Amino acid sequence: MKIIICPDAARAAGLAARLLADQVRDKADSVLGLATGRTMEAIYRLLVGTARARGIGFGGVTTFNLDEYVGLGAEDAQSYRHYMQAHLFSHVDLAPGRTHVPDGAAPDADAEAAAYEARIARAGGIDLQLLGLGENGHIGFNEPLSSLASRTRVVTLAQATLVQNAGMFGGDLSRVPNRAITMGTGTILEARRALMVVTGAGKAAIAARAIEGPVCAAVPGSALQFHPDCLVLLDEAAASALTQRDAIEWQMRHDAELVAIQSAASGGR
Ligand code: GLP
Repeated sequence: MKIIICPDAARAAGLAARLLADQVRDKADSVLGLATGRTMEAIYRLLVGTARARGIGFGGVTTFNLDEYVGLGAEDAQSYRHYMQAHLFSHVDLAPGRTHVPDGAAPDADAEAAAYEARIARAGGIDLQLLGLGENGHIGFNEPLSSLASRTRVVTLAQATLVQNAGMFGGDLSRVPNRAITMGTGTILEARRALMVVTGAGKAAIAARAIEGPVCAAVPGSALQFHPDCLVLLDEAAASALTQRDAIEWQMRHDAELVAIQSAASGGR
């Protein structure tokens, strides 16, 4: 894992947006893995702005979202398809047929999950997978104790996730669907690059477990320690429980890739 600690959440989002834009600039037919959640909202807003400012088109890009609630269709305001339309898809020139979110309204959710996995493979796999980290350590909707080798499938959401995401459902826990289709942890690990963004003091403890703790199914995000090309962007608040701070700062100052990313962010290109 390579790690950059940013002064604040806005700068972490800006850096993530820049890395996504660079990916599309460098490979116009990129396959992007996308995520949802509050952390991603600023990233998509900044990505739309930076892509416009730099004349980067999304016409050749294909996207695959991590997950979707079972039972919610594209027209449901709480669905992740709806979220993606609102925050990204409607603002860039992505071809609608190239944006993929699992169909939560599919009559057979298990078949939809298997078909989704096959669609990712047919697209040639994911070039860059954007990820958040749930307060309980989940990535996508791979809840604690999910197999680290899991594939795209139907899962039962953890109680902590229902509580965390109830805000999207008017704070009413009973309205949050309790099942979802999610890319598996094993599926996520096959992306050629991974970019996880974690911000806020509420994520400090789980970020430390995911980054520094043992790799274990209890913290699905820790599986990213096995990813050969994973960058984690944190803000100061989310980084506050890390014990390897000196080692991280050393790498931030001396690792050529990290130095280049940071200097591009601070006004260079
Ligand atoms: C949802 C998504 C996850 C995301 C998580 C974090 O549960 N399924 O992919 O990482 O939210 O969300 P937030 O950024 O709102 O903390």
